[in-house]
Order: sequence, then C-alpha cells, then structure tokens
Amino acid sequence: MRLLTFSFLKNCTLKSFFNGKPRKYSRVTQTEPKIPQLKGDPNYIEISPTWGTDIKPELRAAILQDMQVYPGFVTEEEEASLLAELEPYLKRMRYEFDHWDDAIQGFRETERSQFKPENQVILDRVKALAFTTDTLPHVHVLDLAAAGFIKPHIDAVRFCGDVIAGVCLCSSAVMRLEHQHEPALALHALLERRALYVMKGVARYEFTHAVLGGERSQWRHRPVPRRRRVAVLCRARPEPSS
Ligand code: OGA
Ligand code: MN
Repeated sequence: MRLLTFSFLKNCTLKSFFNGKPRKYSRVTQTEPKIPQLKGDPNYIEISPTWGTDIKPELRAAILQDMQVYPGFVTEEEEASLLAELEPYLKRMRYEFDHWDDAIQGFRETERSQFKPENQVILDRVKALAFTTDTLPHVHVLDLAAAGFIKPHIDAVRFCGDVIAGVCLCSSAVMRLEHQHEPALALHALLERRALYVMKGVARYEFTHAVLGGERSQWRHRPVPRRRRVAVLCRARPEPSS
C-alpha cells in the first residue's frame, strides 16, 4: 500500500492536507535518546527578516532546535551507491506534472523497504541520528525534476509520526518553512547535495515546508540552481492513536 507518498497526498484535497489537526509535540512523553544527538549546522538555517527577534522568541528557539541540517552527511561514493540502487526503478517512471493546484509538480517516486547492505548502513546512520522511535518500514524516494517543486504542506499526521529525515542527492535545493497561521514567521534551509535534514516537533507540526523551484530557489539572495533532485526520506511511524 502506498500511504505516505505524494501519490497519496495529492489525492487529498488541499484543505484536508493543510487543516489536519496537528497534535502538539510533547517532549515530556518522549523517551530520552539512547545516544547523544549530534547538532546540525546552524549556518544552513536562515530566519526570514520578517520574523523580528522580539516576535515569539520561544518559537524561534524551538524551530532552531527542531529543524537541523547536516551538510555532507553522505560521501560522493555513498551518493553514487544509493543512486545506483535507485535509478533503475526511478528511470522506469515518468515525471508527473499535474494540475496546477497539486501539492507537488514534476516528480516521480518509489518506496523501498530493503536496500543493499552498503546502502542500508547509510540508512541505519540516518536512523541512529534522527530517530528515537520506530520508523516506517518503507523509505520514500522522491525524485524531483529540475523544473519540479513542492508547495507548502504539512505531512499528513495519520501516516507520519514526529520526525522526518531526508538525505538530499543530486542537487542542492532550498526549503522554506512557514508558520501555518503566521506567514511572517518563516525560515529558509539550504539543503546542499549530500546533506541530511531532520525536521521534528514544531517544524514538523506547526510549520509548512516547501522545496522551492525556479527563480524562488534562492539562499541569502543568491540563486541556488535546481537540477534534478532525489530525496531519500525516512519518517517516524505514527502513534497508533492517530
Ligand atoms: C514530502 C516532502 C521533501 C523533500 O515528500 O512530503 O516534503 O526533501 N519532501 O523532498
Ligand atoms: Mn513533506
């Protein structure tokens, strides 16, 4: 069953896509991480100038905790190895450029529950770093064409738990997070080729995320040319109650 993918999400109305009641992220009920969590590089996150330092400082501190970028998480060899395994599946599919109001344009995707051992160790590293709870058994592979982009959305809470971790391959990209009710509260994340990002808590539930395309793909006023981009996405399993 293809539950977590955009093929599923794009069949939701945009309304239900955005208005699903996000559960509050509760740090109190989280089990303590078994290994110390590494910190991402804060230089890859840029709070928008519209978010003044005096506006919601606690939320600012929370989002800087809950959205982390780890540049160079995979080596060139690891990137090539992951792509060698994934390409045969992806190349069989056409990119979908659908109706203008779909949440994503110019994509093809697949899910995998089994990887070759040399690639499984990379995913195990992602899991060790990003997750303290179970992940979904399927890893989601999302291939965006150079002209593809993802519109602002919040991943459906029914099909995805607290944490989303993405390994970025083939091209750098810029992700924009925007508070679902207060558009001035926004940030950009530079997702370089071979970076990992980890989104959780307020970043996952209270902010929309979008992968920018075309002219909008900018970081600190400089264009970030978007070529074809492949994201390998691990997600936490939703709690049974949701
Ligand atoms: C998604 C998504 C982001 C990415 O598939 O829901 O937001 O990095 N993907 O491709
Ligand atoms: Mn998403």
